[in-house]
Amino acid sequence: MEQANDELQKIERAYDSPPLWYDIRGFFILTFAYRSTLWAQIALFGGNMGPRHLEGAIGSGTLCGIILAWRRLTGRPVKSEIVGFDYAPSMLAGAIRRFKTTPNIRLMQADVAALDLPDNYFDTANVANAVHCFPDVDGGLRELHRVLKPGGRLAMNVLLFARGIQPFKWIAEKIDTWGMRKGILYTPYQEADIRQRIVDAGFDIEREEVSGNTYNVVARKKS
Ligand SMILES: C[S@@+](CC[C@H](N)C(=O)[O-])C[C@H]1O[C@@H](n2cnc3c(N)ncnc32)[C@H](O)[C@@H]1O
Repeated sequence: MEQANDELQKIERAYDSPPLWYDIRGFFILTFAYRSTLWAQIALFGGNMGPRHLEGAIGSGTLCGIILAWRRLTGRPVKSEIVGFDYAPSMLAGAIRRFKTTPNIRLMQADVAALDLPDNYFDTANVANAVHCFPDVDGGLRELHRVLKPGGRLAMNVLLFARGIQPFKWIAEKIDTWGMRKGILYTPYQEADIRQRIVDAGFDIEREEVSGNTYNVVARKKS
């Protein structure tokens, strides 16, 4: 318990920087550590937003804001309820500012492994760029499973250990090592390991692919 609290305090400290700096840094991490693109993220997460949607570890809300704008532009606005949570107060403050005029988004501070949210409530949940930041990933997956309705879908991209050709692998390894030292990355995963954890939490894997250094997955809570 004490160790879990220490880990959570580390997250608070690690993300204690202005949301704008977080967004700029995030762009480099996305490109060189994840080897992913904004478009890939819009496609994965923008396709998984049901009437009652949970945005896990929403951060400063920049990505979620872009995805919601993209959905509006493509004639599929999310009109119903969105709940977003994050553990780091500084990140959450950015999201609160960003969405202060968006009436259907409710934001809360929460640890993914202890969500004060009802069982079987959400149609969909997204966890963008964050699973590998959770100290208690199994607890987090169990909670996401609990709050989803039967048949509800969870989309995530999970950072894998750096792979591929040099020098890109080397660059990604350096960024991962720096991220772990700073506390913004808990650990990258092996694909088989994180897949098994998702299944153990009670999900069926509906879609999955490895792209760049990420495992992109849509998992479904059994009906
Ligand atoms: C790399 S950021 C991603 C933020 C956002 N989803 C995005 O894509 O821009 C990771 C986020 O995970 C949050 N986080 C880390 N551990 C958490 C936990 N145990 N519970 C809730 N949020 C957590 C951090 O505070 C941070 O905002």
